Amino acid sequence: MYKRLVTSNGKEIEIWDNLLSYKKRSEIYDFVKNSYFVIQGADNYHLENSGNHQIASKFTEDDLLRSRLFEDDTSEMLKKVEGYKINQVRVNLSTLNDHNQFHSDANDPNRENKIFKTLIYYPNMKWDIEWGGYTLFANDDLTEIEHTLVYTPGRFILFDGEIPHCIGAPTNMAPSYRFTFVVQYTI
Ligand SMILES: [Fe+2]
Repeated sequence: MYKRLVTSNGKEIEIWDNLLSYKKRSEIYDFVKNSYFVIQGADNYHLENSGNHQIASKFTEDDLLRSRLFEDDTSEMLKKVEGYKINQVRVNLSTLNDHNQFHSDANDPNRENKIFKTLIYYPNMKWDIEWGGYTLFANDDLTEIEHTLVYTPGRFILFDGEIPHCIGAPTNMAPSYRFTFVVQYTI
């Protein structure tokens, strides 16, 4: 299933469900679960957030190939990032204790490449709506959440990295870790 959302200033969020077989999803989940996670910095570099941290696993492009994320039926989706190069690959591990911040993925003023697309894949095999962990997209002055995406196992989301977004922390009902597989593209 494919769905397209647009923010109030015309930026795109595209969603694909059921592109991967259950077997492939299981293999990717195992790959993610067995990755080496480390404590990393916050979502943005604002001084008041400098005490925040996240747990993530940084992947190389070789790791991405070995994960075999882009097999099965993903070729149509990947046409959307044709001509882009991969800027970063990582898996985020979220718990209810995380301090997540709204941020844009294209927020480093020293970066030469300003155009970002971010692809998220939800690797968990089971996730209930009550467990939280939503992906939130806000308007530009952060006064409204415009789109709330429920963590749907096996879903891909491709969005303009400029859109302010945030991981909603899982609730205390979530029995385990929430993983997101993230591939950032730039031109
Ligand atoms: Fe982000």
